[in-house]
Amino acid sequence: MTAPDGVPPQAWDEFSRHYDRQLWLERAAVATALALLRPQPDERVLDVATGTGEALRQLAACRDRPRQAIGIDQSAAMLSHVPALPGGWATQQADARALPFAASCFDVAISSYLLHLLMPTDVPIVLAELRRVLRPGGRLVTVTPAIPPRGLTRPLARALDRLAALRPHRYGGLRALDVRPALIDAGFQVAEARWNLRGYPTLCVLARSRG
Ligand SMILES: C[S@@+](CC[C@H](N)C(=O)[O-])C[C@H]1O[C@@H](n2cnc3c(N)ncnc32)[C@H](O)[C@@H]1O
Repeated sequence: MTAPDGVPPQAWDEFSRHYDRQLWLERAAVATALALLRPQPDERVLDVATGTGEALRQLAACRDRPRQAIGIDQSAAMLSHVPALPGGWATQQADARALPFAASCFDVAISSYLLHLLMPTDVPIVLAELRRVLRPGGRLVTVTPAIPPRGLTRPLARALDRLAALRPHRYGGLRALDVRPALIDAGFQVAEARWNLRGYPTLCVLARSRG
């Protein structure tokens, strides 16, 4: 797969060695997303494009964490940095555009800092896959860099988005994407959206799969 900036998938193998150095800029947004999602102990969780496993790490630290969780990523090198996971949890190398899971086999899913990286034509494909593997009424939380409608962070977010357009090979990961219209088109109902402005200006969206 090639991102909008033309970065090939192998680039993530390269980035994997240094990826965790920037995690401090995304931790608060991932925490916001998990607070929106509130996975229950008996719910089965999919973390799509888990990378080095930041969402899984935060989830593992929760007192009432889910008994089953799986993180997938296309990059084996990124996955090699996922720390030891609780029993019943796993990682798997897979493409988000063709998830190797049966229909309706997850209760909740997380997509953290993935969708803005995709070719625009791949966004509906990945959302359709997420909808397929979620049970009817299942919940999805998305995390993407985005431009807040107002406030002091708005100029910063716009500058980062412009930088991403100017130097996509280096800063493509800062591209802004409000995923709500695509979620609705893909058959999700947007339940709640929260901005997180500590670290990357980020929009976290909780959506439900329409039955
Ligand atoms: C910016 S990192 C996000 C990692 C993690 N979710 C986080 O929040 O730190 C993007 C990840 O998406 C993965 N990725 C990109 N395209 C993918 C695809 N089609 N299928 C699976 N993983 C993909 C990359 O390998 C990389 O690990």
